[in-house]
Amino acid sequence: MASFPSCKAVITLAILLVFLSSSSAQLSPDFYSKSCPNLFATVKSVVHSAVQNEARMGASLLRLFFHDCFVNGCDGSILLDDTSSFTGEKGAVPNRNSARGFDVVDQIKSAVEKACPGVVSCADVLAIAARDSVVILGGPDWNVKLGRRDAKTASRAAANNGIPPPTSNLNALISRFNALGLSTKDLVALSGSHTIGQARCTSFRARIYNESNLDTSLAQTRKGNCPRASGVGDNNLAPLDLQTPTNFDNNYFKNLVSRRGLLHSDQQLFIGGATDSIVRTYSNDPNTFKSDFAAAMLKMGDIRPLTGSNGEVRKNCRRVN
Ligand code: HEM
Ligand SMILES: *[C@@H]1O[C@H](CO)[C@@H](O)[C@H](O)[C@H]1NC(C)=O
Repeated sequence: MASFPSCKAVITLAILLVFLSSSSAQLSPDFYSKSCPNLFATVKSVVHSAVQNEARMGASLLRLFFHDCFVNGCDGSILLDDTSSFTGEKGAVPNRNSARGFDVVDQIKSAVEKACPGVVSCADVLAIAARDSVVILGGPDWNVKLGRRDAKTASRAAANNGIPPPTSNLNALISRFNALGLSTKDLVALSGSHTIGQARCTSFRARIYNESNLDTSLAQTRKGNCPRASGVGDNNLAPLDLQTPTNFDNNYFKNLVSRRGLLHSDQQLFIGGATDSIVRTYSNDPNTFKSDFAAAMLKMGDIRPLTGSNGEVRKNCRRVN
């Protein structure tokens, strides 16, 4: 009798295993309510002035959070500068000459460190800043879940592999999102982020010169500031949403329906495939888009966070402690 583990021991072990295997379950909106009661107000005030100063910054901060979460989870790894022991994500193809807002993140982090030294992770700062950016530009609000810790390393290769390029076809987009626990609907909702912000000529050149499922007058306009020859005007900017690039609305989806998606990957969401009906719904119903977007942002924020005693709370988002 004594050689068999007791029923109680088996149940205890089972509960322990469930705890060990679930990580995202530990994130919660009130994680810092006692340790940093003014956190939300502190972050919002810095994001607000940055976006007042330059509306595009809201888009840039939102994109940083996406590029963080898609590479080894939402762990603040994108914020790390290169060191002698690792080559970080800032120089990866999707980020080089493109990802921006790092100094605003530094400003937010300084303000937060002043209020609550050593308490709030950079990964969480980014999650809150992304939400605040969307709200300030007229998008939906949601209760950001918190309690992520910061990575102690970063990987350029992981960023090159993890973030989908604008040349992606629909199936590649769906499978990358699915691999991270995001549904096809989440893919479409989250892509609605391209209702704000800018893209470089190099990201859409092949589309405006070579693709036929693009409104000809838009193609003509974009060619005016994006020469055919690669290497010329690569960094010239164009708005992802031609009408209202600083309003978080549903124009992005209206554009897709009228073949005005700027990126190849944008237009892939409306090419007669599985996502057409979702695009149509969002183009007709901004409220459904906004509530699906908020839900999808919460799911994206749950991707593989470091919690408990994993990782650390960085003092400076650019380097490990
Ligand atoms: C579905 C796959 C996606 C692809 C292939 C993609 C690709 C791109 C590309 C190529 C740019 C322009 C970068 C440049 O030329 O410098 C861009 C900009 C942007 N992306 Fe995405 N993206 C995707 C999904 C997302 C998601 C899920 C979000 C946010 C949740 C997002 C947010 C943004 C924002 C806000 C900008 C503008 C940034 C700025 O103006 O600084 N994107 N994206
Ligand atoms: C258009 O496609 C052709 C043939 O694939 C290619 O050689 C050319 O570089 C493309 N042009 C642009 C601007 O991408």
